[in-house]
Amino acid sequence: PCKPIKFCFECTLNFMDISEEQQQDFGVLLKQGAEGRVFVSTFVGRKCVIKERFSKKYRHPVLDSKLTLKRLNAEARCMTKARRLGVPTPVLYAVDPLPHTLTFEYVDGLCVKDILLGFGSNGINEERLNDIATQIGNAVGKLHDGGLVHGDLTTSNMMIKNSTNQLVLIDFGLSFTSTIPEDKAVDLYVLERALISMHSSCGDVMEKILAAYRKASRQWCATTNKLAQVRQRGRKRTMVG
Ligand SMILES: Nc1ncnc2c1ncn2[C@@H]1O[C@H](COP(=O)(O)OP(=O)(O)OP(=O)(O)O)[C@@H](O)[C@H]1O
Ligand SMILES: [Mg+2]
Repeated sequence: PCKPIKFCFECTLNFMDISEEQQQDFGVLLKQGAEGRVFVSTFVGRKCVIKERFSKKYRHPVLDSKLTLKRLNAEARCMTKARRLGVPTPVLYAVDPLPHTLTFEYVDGLCVKDILLGFGSNGINEERLNDIATQIGNAVGKLHDGGLVHGDLTTSNMMIKNSTNQLVLIDFGLSFTSTIPEDKAVDLYVLERALISMHSSCGDVMEKILAAYRKASRQWCATTNKLAQVRQRGRKRTMVG
């Protein structure tokens, strides 16, 4: 068998047989967050990303396992639903309930956040910006039309494939199904706030996104009307706060 320190789907390694410290090592660490970690590894010879959800030590172990598994399954289900709706996402390779991991196709590319931060300086021009904004509006429109809300629409959760320049949506950890315009409007509002706070030097990217969104979503009118109300609420909260 392969070395127990590395996670490998091809060998029959039993995770219960190795120490807790070794169980946590799934490959090269890409990101460590409060909720989990993301690793780059290989899955049956293919480069992959392994997303591990932490267990919460303060919760009863059985309850904890059930809740973590529920979230893991919800993320997997939402991601595959998005793919079915024609929204590009990484291919889901595996859901492993024992170490609480999801294994995805590795997307070779940059996240939209890093691309937009380079606007005006080292590379990205107006044409590329328009293309990215159109792809974002189109993807979110399709998602919402299919009754799926992403829940964390920030530019860190969007990637552009190097080979095709295609947008890929990632991180469906907070996604849920909904047909309510308010839920979709809040999804767009989160994106708008992220663009204002991180990418104001790129100009009004949101307007470009919304132009594509209107073409992709049949229910755009109800959602954008709600978006205006959500913006008003946001403004009041800022004034009072
Ligand atoms: N399939 C992938 N291919 C390449 N890189 C990825 C892939 N999935 C995630 N990443 C990288 O890892 C980072 C973190 O991934 P992700 O957003 O899914 O986790 P997270 O933000 O920690 O999740 P959560 O918010 O659910 O706790 C991404 O910003 C991206 O840079
Ligand atoms: Mg993320």
